[in-house]
Amino acid sequence: MEQREKWATKIGLILAMAGNAIGLGNFVRFPTQVAGNGGGAFMVPYFLALFLLGIPVMWVEWVQGRYGGKYGHGTLGPTFYLMARESVKPRTALIFGLIGGALAFATTTLLNSYYLHLIGWSAAYSWFSITGAYFGKNTAEFFSQYLSNHGQVFLFWGITVVLLGIAVGQGVSKGIERWVKVMMPLLYVFAIILVIYVFALGSPLGDPKWSTLKGFEFIWSPNWTYLKENLWSVMLAASGQIFFTLSLGMGIIQNYASYLGPKDDVALSGLATVSLNEFAEVVLGGSIAVPLAVAYAPKIVPADVLAKGSDAALQWISENFGLGFSYTSLPNIFVQMGAAGRFFGALWFLLLWFAGFTSAIAMYNYLTALLEEDLGIPRKTGTWVVFVIYFLLGIPVVYISGYLDQVDAWISFQLALLALFDIIVGVWLFKPDNFWKELHEGALINVPEIYKWITVIVAPIFIALPLFGTAKSLIGTTLQWPARIAILAMLTIGAIETYYAIKKKYGEELEKNEVIIKV
Ligand code: PFF
Repeated sequence: MEQREKWATKIGLILAMAGNAIGLGNFVRFPTQVAGNGGGAFMVPYFLALFLLGIPVMWVEWVQGRYGGKYGHGTLGPTFYLMARESVKPRTALIFGLIGGALAFATTTLLNSYYLHLIGWSAAYSWFSITGAYFGKNTAEFFSQYLSNHGQVFLFWGITVVLLGIAVGQGVSKGIERWVKVMMPLLYVFAIILVIYVFALGSPLGDPKWSTLKGFEFIWSPNWTYLKENLWSVMLAASGQIFFTLSLGMGIIQNYASYLGPKDDVALSGLATVSLNEFAEVVLGGSIAVPLAVAYAPKIVPADVLAKGSDAALQWISENFGLGFSYTSLPNIFVQMGAAGRFFGALWFLLLWFAGFTSAIAMYNYLTALLEEDLGIPRKTGTWVVFVIYFLLGIPVVYISGYLDQVDAWISFQLALLALFDIIVGVWLFKPDNFWKELHEGALINVPEIYKWITVIVAPIFIALPLFGTAKSLIGTTLQWPARIAILAMLTIGAIETYYAIKKKYGEELEKNEVIIKV
């Protein structure tokens, strides 16, 4: 068995995994999805996807990670190869290895290349809130001016990514684990303060028609009519959100789990990750942006829309919610709060920065581990190589308009595809009984038998929904050349790198096409 770095403490591991999952997805993407998909209509399929898709795939990924770690692998290619080997000959297993390795490489390079920029914006906006830079200005104009000041954009990006590089360079237990032990508790504190404030706000403009309570109602009263009329699109949005928020189909849960001992619990820990993430998403993430937007509707909704009544105003908020909303409309609300707005604005954007940072660190570590394990590049040097990769991949994000959205559309498809391969390789080819045995190795809880069947049969059927849905919308859009080139290049490099890594260690097996290396 290979000697590899391990998490130093259980709490450190759990916080790192929670930090991995809890990100901009919880505080920005979730409210956007809820608002854009009929409020309460969204929550029904959301919970369905959580139980039938999120939890089982989370367990599969933890099992895969710990299994790969036993053989010294924290990347997906070799791990998939080893698991597939249980059912098929090494040369066929190699194909599954290549698929897993290529997809995970493409996600950890491309997704993070724009995610890091979004975190950079949050860093900038924390600063702009404290200094009151956007107070008294048109916040939409302020935002577009910020975006066109590329020096400033790269400055806040740079501060963020250098800090990430330092943390990852210090290693898993001495770096990542220590950083998340500080950042995660603070993240919860920030979020709780904001939620309490939102609850206390009531109707800040003195008109009971507009209150934070109305915002809660919008999210929490199931809207069956809307659901019935938009069943497929809402189901699609809900399952896509589950993948994204839980960091599934990316290879990074496996990477973190690879630093476990062979008998460390995965069953309860996987469930703890999901629970901590869902608390941060549904309870905290759902109680900030949307209620604030509804309580301050008259200040952000255009007057002509407002005149049509509260339904029209809610509709406007739903349609305009999104990434830009956080940087244009929410600042407008902070301005309304006067001096307190500087504080709460800074708190909000720092919350986003912490949430994003502790997620991006997992992608950063995946690539660093890849360089370290597969190519023999020392960790410290590797982190700077990764820095350069992210810098280069960040250029089209900043300079080519539309690029971010196009790559993001591809990523949504890729997450579902990789999750499907998680199950094909980690459960079907690895064999369901082996999977179940591995899940219970050292487990602190007994998972009900029904989950075995949910994982083997129900989850892959459920995945078909986001898989075909995202594929359909991709076919409907023509990707620009920069996006196509970036995607193809990352998939190709990922596949070549994986081939090299597997061949290096399991070359003899592939030659003979018989399994030789066992732990
Ligand atoms: N689960 C993360 C989130 O909710 O924001 C998704 C993620 C995105 C993880 C980007 C890591 C990352 F670099």
